[in-house]
Amino acid sequence: MRFSVTTSPIDKPKAGLRAVGLFQKRKLGLHAAGLDEALQGRVSDVVKAGELDGEAGTTLLIPAPAKGAAATVLVGLGPKKDFAAKAVRKACKALAGLVVERPANTIAIAVEDLLPLQENVGWLVQTLVFAIGDAGYRYTEYKGKEDVKPVRLKHVVLCVTEEQAAEAERACAEAEAILAGANHTRDLGNAPPNVIHPEALAEAARELAGQHKKLKATVLDEKELKKLGANAILAVGQGSERPPRLIALEYSGAGKDEAPIVLVGKGITFDTGGISLKPGEAMDEMKYDMCGAATVLGVMTAVCELKLPLNVIGVVTSAENMPDGRACRPGDIITTLSGQTVEILNTDAEGRLVLCDALTWVERFKPKAVIDIATLTGACIIALGHQASAVLGNDDELVQSLKAAGSATYDRAWELPLWDEYQEQLKSNFADMANIGGRPAGTITAACFLSRFAEKYRWAHLDIAGIAWKSGKEKGATGRPVPLLVRYLLDQVGR
Ligand code: BES
Ligand code: MN
Ligand code: ZN
Repeated sequence: MRFSVTTSPIDKPKAGLRAVGLFQKRKLGLHAAGLDEALQGRVSDVVKAGELDGEAGTTLLIPAPAKGAAATVLVGLGPKKDFAAKAVRKACKALAGLVVERPANTIAIAVEDLLPLQENVGWLVQTLVFAIGDAGYRYTEYKGKEDVKPVRLKHVVLCVTEEQAAEAERACAEAEAILAGANHTRDLGNAPPNVIHPEALAEAARELAGQHKKLKATVLDEKELKKLGANAILAVGQGSERPPRLIALEYSGAGKDEAPIVLVGKGITFDTGGISLKPGEAMDEMKYDMCGAATVLGVMTAVCELKLPLNVIGVVTSAENMPDGRACRPGDIITTLSGQTVEILNTDAEGRLVLCDALTWVERFKPKAVIDIATLTGACIIALGHQASAVLGNDDELVQSLKAAGSATYDRAWELPLWDEYQEQLKSNFADMANIGGRPAGTITAACFLSRFAEKYRWAHLDIAGIAWKSGKEKGATGRPVPLLVRYLLDQVGR
């Protein structure tokens, strides 16, 4: 899918579809009115006939008046007096769903019609690009052609005014890069766990590095992890035929002495729970337990495309959590890379184990900030459902910046407290700490565990268990929180 911005009026671009807005109570939007005139009143006739009342999220397609002419899509925007972001999001989603599978390969959209007073054009362009990009995403790698409805829409033309053009162009380029990154994340997440194993993630990182000059990939295999002393990562992976990997993708967009922002992604390519085996229901979805890692790779894709003047390091800590004769067991005590000992009381709390060694390892980069991204706890879904990531950290400014980036992209995050009192739940009788903190506040105690390995730098943790993928009929990776993270990085360079 390609997106572009133009200052020509809605009826000028060569397009099979034209989308214009309609307010409730039969008020045509600015461009709808213009188009109505050009179409000899056909638009207003249809509206007068009561075919569409303009409720936000409703749409109506008026077929092309003649062969070779364009069809018109009317998009309901709700009542004009409380026209705001919420209605526009609904409208964009409905529009996107209607148009991607139509025969037309180009659509022109009257951006001005859809722009509420309180928002800027950049916001609207981003909302449109994300909505159409989302509706146009398919994962078809393993499906026969007859089985998938093809996306025929290829080109989206955003019609704006002269004054809006510069901002719209910038927003469009940014949103496209974010979309490309998120789609990469979705592809990796949706791929089956017999294909995506730790070495496959390493290969994906190498491939990315091969495509971009400013990117360098480093992969530590099991031998190197042993030499290093990354025993927590090794413990999680020791029950699997596919050994763990620790991967770094270093992007150099700024001077050598500029401290990097480090992203660390949990890459459990399949989480059976290990000896603390998970129940069978929906266990297939534990292929998505590498979505933190996939997010890191998606963000790095976008960073390269945007040529950000920053140093960013994407780290993936990857293992497969399997039950086996060699697997670690409840009661095992390991010495982590940091030197701290951990009593593994539940082998299903494996994410924090692969992360803790990675968090120690990244000290070597002398980071400006470290953000880890992980499908870490089921408790996060209980707390926040499927709307928001949980964000926790040791630096308030960092946490607030991430929240703000989430709001700006509607890829929202919500803060949970990381108070000292919660640390007590991690006490072990036999080691420096246990790897679980009991039922209460499971997302917080998981972050408490991580915090003990992140004391040497500014750090924040995103628990994405509730948002990284959808279950049920629409099962699939969402590509979140790529928008949040790329927005955060753009904010760092004032874009
Ligand atoms: N990957 C899971 C968390 C998860 C479960 C995410 C379901 C999304 C949906 C993680 O490794 C895990 O199993 N966590 C345990 C921790 C517990 C043993 C303390 C959990 O949340 O049950
Ligand atoms: Mn687990
Ligand atoms: Zn897990």
